[in-house]
Amino acid sequence: MTDQNSQRKYTMGRSDEETERLIEQSRLFEPITRRFLTSAGISEGMRVLDIGSGAGDVSLIAAELVGPEGQVVGVDMNPDILEIARTRVQEVGYENVAFLAGDVQTMDLGDRFDALVGRLVLMYLPDPVTALKQLLNQVRPGGIVMFQEIDFTITETYKHPDTPLMGQLGDWIVEVFERSGANATMGLELYRVFTEAGLPEPTLDAGLLVGAASDWPGYSYVANSFRSVVPLLEHYGIATAEEVDVDTIPQRVREEIEASKRPVVVPPHFAAWARTNVENQ
Ligand SMILES: C[S@@+](CC[C@H](N)C(=O)[O-])C[C@H]1O[C@@H](n2cnc3c(N)ncnc32)[C@H](O)[C@@H]1O
Repeated sequence: MTDQNSQRKYTMGRSDEETERLIEQSRLFEPITRRFLTSAGISEGMRVLDIGSGAGDVSLIAAELVGPEGQVVGVDMNPDILEIARTRVQEVGYENVAFLAGDVQTMDLGDRFDALVGRLVLMYLPDPVTALKQLLNQVRPGGIVMFQEIDFTITETYKHPDTPLMGQLGDWIVEVFERSGANATMGLELYRVFTEAGLPEPTLDAGLLVGAASDWPGYSYVANSFRSVVPLLEHYGIATAEEVDVDTIPQRVREEIEASKRPVVVPPHFAAWARTNVENQ
């Protein structure tokens, strides 16, 4: 069963811990996102629209790539996280980044950008094809479109007899995403979404985090991802906070790896990029 109000909900919640988790996630994925943005062609002087900008991490990388002559506009429906994004931009002293509150499915900035980008946002939209078609009106002819999305199909690999804890965590996270209306396989659907939205066939790439060493920073990221979804795990009756026992996840996962010698693979991020048709616009 899917949550009927998924349009206005965000699976991972809006807590301060979730914002911290987004920033931690960004640190881990920063090199991967930088590679995707650069490969897609984001470069000096461009004006970039970042949708579902969250705490501003993709906007910050884009701002560095476009330089002082370029500009970045981030849009998110959560006004609290936009305040954090603005503070972070001030801290690094960029003057070419602005954040606006809005629903990316309906907003129209009345402008045409050189590039439209987003990370982990199409998966939360009930109809990403329609949303993308609408957003393309805000990209100049021949402009760049680049999205980076996760795919949880990899959790099948956890279902190994030697890694029951990872198997359980994988099942819980996929179920909570599905029940909340988020698309847990958006990464591998990017090709379809791009082409159905009328874009040319996109170039695809993927990046993933994998680790087994005892000091791997991914353990706390895995635990904090669960911290953000515990309220929904309980709400849907999938698992209780006691069963999840977030605080002990890093230690228990580490023990499981030590015993099984099988690394943790964080579900991969896929990217797709293309240039909008010049003749159709
Ligand atoms: C997983 S976070 C990703 C944030 C950021 N792109 C990053 O990768 O660090 C998803 C963000 O999308 C925003 N979001 C989800 N649906 C939205 C919508 N319809 N309109 C605007 N923002 C939306 C959420 O508020 C949240 O901040």
